[in-house]
Amino acid sequence: MDLKVICVLSVILVVALSTLAEGKIPPTRCQCKMALKERRNCGYPGISEVECRKAGCCFNDSVPGTPWCFAPKPKKVRKVCPNDPHGRINCGFPGITAQECEKKGCCFNTQPAGVPWCFYHRVVEEEC
Ligand SMILES: *[C@@H]1O[C@H](CO)[C@@H](O)[C@H](O)[C@H]1NC(C)=O
Repeated sequence: MDLKVICVLSVILVVALSTLAEGKIPPTRCQCKMALKERRNCGYPGISEVECRKAGCCFNDSVPGTPWCFAPKPKKVRKVCPNDPHGRINCGFPGITAQECEKKGCCFNTQPAGVPWCFYHRVVEEEC
């Protein structure tokens, strides 16, 4: 393997390991917003707030008699085309057509000049 490949692989490995060490990605506020009866226990009875969050669960102890540590809902996301032309990340090549760009699942806009016309979506969380 050449040095570049080894470099890239070690970066991936380090990132993967640090993700494991930090535990799960915390749920967003929207993922934890649900009716009390929809709450599904996460963790064990009497789990602390810190342990609950570390396990990637939602914590809310405002209502006694309901699960305080509960499983988050799946994250609802939507793709949007960024408005800021300078924030565009190139998804095509100079002179790409709208059809070619759409086939790649990217955003297409020929305005303004001097920035990529075919560019990646951003993923944003849906409001709740
Ligand atoms: C906790 O849950 C209650 C009942 O669902 C809700 O009204 C309240 O806003 C929640 N608190 C937080 C901090 O999410």
